[in-house]
Amino acid sequence: MLDFGIIVHGGAGSFTPGPDVPNRRKVLETSADAGYLELKKRGGSSLDAVEEAIKVLEDSKVFNAGSGSSLSIEGKVSTDAAIMNGNNLGCGAIGNVSIHRNPISLARLVMENSDHVFLVGSDELLKFSRAIGVTSTRLVPSEQRLKQYKENLAQMKDGKIKAWPRNYKLLRSYQSSKKFDSPENSDTVGAVAVDSSSNVCAGVSTGGRWLKLPGRVGDSAIVGSGIYADNLSGAASATGAGEEIIRVCLCKTVCDFMRNGADAQSACEAAINILTDRRGVGIAGVIAVDKLGRFGAARNTEMLQRAFRFDSMKKTYVAVLPEEKDPVRPNYELGDLRLRF
Ligand code: GLY
Repeated sequence: MLDFGIIVHGGAGSFTPGPDVPNRRKVLETSADAGYLELKKRGGSSLDAVEEAIKVLEDSKVFNAGSGSSLSIEGKVSTDAAIMNGNNLGCGAIGNVSIHRNPISLARLVMENSDHVFLVGSDELLKFSRAIGVTSTRLVPSEQRLKQYKENLAQMKDGKIKAWPRNYKLLRSYQSSKKFDSPENSDTVGAVAVDSSSNVCAGVSTGGRWLKLPGRVGDSAIVGSGIYADNLSGAASATGAGEEIIRVCLCKTVCDFMRNGADAQSACEAAINILTDRRGVGIAGVIAVDKLGRFGAARNTEMLQRAFRFDSMKKTYVAVLPEEKDPVRPNYELGDLRLRF
């Protein structure tokens, strides 16, 4: 039987040591364990595993998703999320939405209860939720995120960070600050899984990037960029600067490499190499599982927070520090399938 399992990520970016590191580790472990528990069930599906794992991350308030979402230039939450089922290319995505505690579940509801792939806007999603009889609760920023928002605005005014340069003039209409910028950290969450029937699934959820313009939708709502899954290749989920991830359709690129015979690790590395060559370093990370159940993770950032749990592993492996390496699984050889870009 296939060595089924799940990988989750809690964002890629620069690493800041701090007292929250053990908690991040714990939440990632709990998330991977929740997904693995689904896979262990009789007939457990990668779709359920991915949704349950991401819900843990969204609810944690620790990562940039769900209740922990970063805030827009107006200090508001707006989330993006997407989920894709590799056995039939079913997918659902939501963009610019603040009406549901678990955006990943709302994306799945779009996939399973509408004829569309992608719905945007809180009012529109509220109507959709009502139509299918689902109660939604507006997401409100956590205290910690509101504090961070004030700090980021102060930094912006001091001109300490240099992101979003072309938005600067536009932003005067949103805020009366003299300068605009944004921190680079992106703690988007995501998961990929393969179940014992060899079905793969990918999911992703985010509050987007700090101090983004209202109406901005990032890669996490875009199938092919923030996620992709196809049983013929595998599944991938991305994190990092959404504008850049969209430019290279990062997750479809990973899946295309796997479709052409690369194992998951080689495919992640090859796709990240393309991103680095075209757009530079410090941008993104990606996790993947291929159709044979091999996992991969690559980044061109300092760190990619992640956790793995496959059936052959005795316990969940978590990596948060930049220097932490991924485990070597028993009976797992890359052989000559490795591919270099
Ligand atoms: N990768 C998350 C975002 O840029 O919105």
